[in-house]
Amino acid sequence: MWDSRNVLVTGGASFIGSHLVDSLLKKGAVVKVADDFSSGKLSNLEYPLKKVASNTWTHNSLTVIQGDLKDKSFTKNVLKDVEVVFHLAALHGGRGYIHTHPAQCCTNMILDQLVFEEAQKAGVDRICFASSACVYPAYLQEQTGSNYLLREEDADPFVRDKAFADLEYGWAKLMGEMALKAYHRQYGMKTSSVRIFTAYGPRENETHAIIALIAKAFIRMDPYAIWGSGKQDRNFTYVQDIVDFLIGAAEKIEDGTPVNAGRDDRVTIDQAAEMIFDIVGWRPKKIIHDLSKPEGVASRAADLTRARKIIGEPKVSYREGFKKTIEWYFTHKNREEVKSKLDTLLMER
Ligand SMILES: NC(=O)c1ccc[n+]([C@@H]2O[C@H](COP(=O)([O-])OP(=O)(O)OC[C@H]3O[C@@H](n4cnc5c(N)ncnc54)[C@H](O)[C@@H]3O)[C@@H](O)[C@H]2O)c1
Repeated sequence: MWDSRNVLVTGGASFIGSHLVDSLLKKGAVVKVADDFSSGKLSNLEYPLKKVASNTWTHNSLTVIQGDLKDKSFTKNVLKDVEVVFHLAALHGGRGYIHTHPAQCCTNMILDQLVFEEAQKAGVDRICFASSACVYPAYLQEQTGSNYLLREEDADPFVRDKAFADLEYGWAKLMGEMALKAYHRQYGMKTSSVRIFTAYGPRENETHAIIALIAKAFIRMDPYAIWGSGKQDRNFTYVQDIVDFLIGAAEKIEDGTPVNAGRDDRVTIDQAAEMIFDIVGWRPKKIIHDLSKPEGVASRAADLTRARKIIGEPKVSYREGFKKTIEWYFTHKNREEVKSKLDTLLMER
């Protein structure tokens, strides 16, 4: 399926995008990355890249092109000769970001539609879209300690009372999914939407909960501040598992059917922090819960019935994933620098 295939990864210099690129290259694909580096970084693509033009770098079968995918001529150009698109480019960040940047999140609708339209015109065979658990209604996730698992049927723009996405960011993702179903229906394009649940891992930034908790342990913050009550829970999912879901969806789904990519077990933020203290071998004397900060929904995890049937299930345990992420953070970051910029790092993508 992937050997010598021409694949475009939009937003391929991002946290998830760069891991996806690594996996696609290992599978033998010829990979092009289009990214404006607004939050993605060239350094996330850990190859000896050679600059061949003012906005282009290459290494063997990887080409990285810097540009804004909201610029139609750029998008048209990068889609030439592409067979498969993984569309990950988006303005996005953790709760702190999407809460305070609603207008930016709305622009994702323009970006998505432009990529899909130009892909169709360019004769692209398949598109796999990085959607989000934020397509699901917040009211299904409001009960602390809930054991409700979000099913794909809980977010569907064509079923009465089933479309009520979480903030502008979630609505934009739901509209992206809707468009991909339309492109399949009208043009027969093979499309899939992967609803990513709270990914974490190496190369992620501090606007996301696990990296924020690790960063605070790294600088030995004491009192140690946790956003919200600490009782909110999530199904944090290791990035390689997310990548396997994306590739699996692109291989197996053709009619725009959305699929969850996450775990069906959860940990509270307090439990995640404790696990991090344990792995790091340090514990603050005092923990405070800052209720003035956004904490998102109370409880979230994925029903994996559809994912298991079509693709498979996550393989990396919480402990193993946290350990890998801590090792990466501690070897790549500078303590004094993180300390001096932490407030900005937690809010800005
Ligand atoms: N991280 C998560 O837990 C999570 C959860 C759900 C969905 N997602 C989705 O997965 C994708 C990747 O997210 P991420 O967390 O890895 O990092 P991210 O949000 O930094 O990724 C977005 C990428 O798109 C690029 N980009 C943004 N606007 C662009 C434009 N106009 N033109 C070209 N490139 C542009 C950025 O530079 C970045 O590399 C996003 O679509 C995001 O919405 C992520």
